[in-house]
Amino acid sequence: MPNAGHRRAAIAGLRAIKIAGTGVSLPPKVVKNADLEDVVDTSDAWITERTGIKERRIADPSIATSDLCAEAVRNACADAGVDPSDIDGLIVSTSTTDTLFPSTACWVQRKLGIKGMPALDVSAGCSGFLYGLELATNLIIAGAMRRVAVVGGEVMSKVVNWRDRGTCVLFGDGAGAAIVVPGDGRSGVLASNWGADGNLAPILYQPAGGTQMPATRESVDGGKHTVHMEGNTVFRHAVVAMSTAAVQAMRDAEITADDVSLFVPHQANMRIMEAARERTGVPREKMYSVLHKYGNMSAATIPVALHEARTEGLIRDGDIVVSTAFGTGFTWAACVLRW
Ligand code: ACO
Repeated sequence: MPNAGHRRAAIAGLRAIKIAGTGVSLPPKVVKNADLEDVVDTSDAWITERTGIKERRIADPSIATSDLCAEAVRNACADAGVDPSDIDGLIVSTSTTDTLFPSTACWVQRKLGIKGMPALDVSAGCSGFLYGLELATNLIIAGAMRRVAVVGGEVMSKVVNWRDRGTCVLFGDGAGAAIVVPGDGRSGVLASNWGADGNLAPILYQPAGGTQMPATRESVDGGKHTVHMEGNTVFRHAVVAMSTAAVQAMRDAEITADDVSLFVPHQANMRIMEAARERTGVPREKMYSVLHKYGNMSAATIPVALHEARTEGLIRDGDIVVSTAFGTGFTWAACVLRW
């Protein structure tokens, strides 16, 4: 649960950056709730009522996270009018890495045919994109980089247990990217707030495949290479952490709910999003959701939502966008951005 450490990680005062372009990659295969009725003992009615999800995208077995991330970066670069080889930093936020090593970011470089710039992964679960944005912002403000691609991408369908109805119905695959560049003083991060509480790591994790539990026949047979989640505990912590981080960041940015143009929370469950929004005081009509279409794509939900909101003309220069997220770790992050 956010505590005093939460406050220490807050940064206020305009950091002049600009999101010069956004892009997404969404697998073409649509899986509707009704389709899952053939997979586990569930129903469209239950999933809709308890989560707000109607359908999700599922990647072809041949697709790895780096494929989606590379396409999202390519599209974001095209939107920003730059060539992928011109970016000078690549941050990939994901929990569904291509390989244990090297980083998924290096696989993305390979797929984009680019090299030279630092490339690294951020492992912060569903908070990953906002973690990446925070790192990119500070690297740009420090003068270390001038054009950073931040991408959140996941192939969750390869790490969920398709026999566990409590988790498999929640997730989807996809990627979203943003090209972050220095701002001219009008746009930027007004305030942010990020943190983590690793004491709660066992509540939501993938037990096997790393050094704690290397792959064995037993680990595979026991389904240990898939998502383990205590859903109700995640739910409670998510509401508190997402709203606390957002409220603190809004306070540090010296804005009120009236100043917010769009509220773009991590899209895990409509009940979590609604409860978090309500605690910030931002009216319901200002909350943007793509959850019904894509499910919980973990680190990809916020950049995909930002891209679609922009595409629909809902984010214009000067608008104040508040994003907040919560994920495995537990991690949380909130950002108040003047677009
Ligand atoms: N279909 C039908 N019934 C189901 C399903 C399903 N897919 N899944 C669970 N149920 C059943 C349960 O077995 C239980 O049955 P019982 O009463 O006979 O025991 C009943 O539904 C109620 O289960 P709960 O777990 O209490 O249901 P709840 O309303 O809490 O919803 C959910 C469960 C959707 C998992 C919710 O707790 C949640 O969204 N938690 C957050 C999880 C999350 O978002 N994780 C993502 C990663 S972190 C992040 O992104 C923030």
